[in-house]
Amino acid sequence: MSTTHILVLHGPNLNMLGSREPDHYGHQTLADISKQMIALGDSLNMEISSFQSNHEGELVDRIQQAASGQIDGIVINPAAYTHTSVAIRDALLATDIPFVEVHLSNIHGRETFRHRSLLSDKAIGVIAGFGGTSYLLAIRGMGEFLQPLQQTDQYTTDR
Ligand code: DQA
Repeated sequence: MSTTHILVLHGPNLNMLGSREPDHYGHQTLADISKQMIALGDSLNMEISSFQSNHEGELVDRIQQAASGQIDGIVINPAAYTHTSVAIRDALLATDIPFVEVHLSNIHGRETFRHRSLLSDKAIGVIAGFGGTSYLLAIRGMGEFLQPLQQTDQYTTDR
């Protein structure tokens, strides 16, 4: 089975996970979550690279770079930009790389301005509300999306 490359993008204020509003976002830091994602990636034959920025343009740049690199899928928590950023939506559409949208909190159970996402309609899927585990579920979902044939083969072989 060939290795798939996943880029995980984190938007503004997610560098403060661990101390930021733990009732919404939990106690795990971004480093804790990254460690778990890399371990999961290893077990699924996926290489995970991560990038966090507080700046919309930097996230757009990183998405554009992904198009010229070896990235098979993007997992993105755009944070506050979820609700505002036409630029990030356009960058994702321009690259045509499949993406999963992730949120730590259940954005639909919070303020109404968080209910709208400018990305969801173009995502493979959206995972929200499971804290740091949302990212792990997104990576599993991306794996199923990218490697359905290999996983079927594996299943057949294991039986
Ligand atoms: C968030 C939800 C957003 O509404 C918020 O602005 C964030 C984090 C989440 O992961 O739950 O910064 O994307």
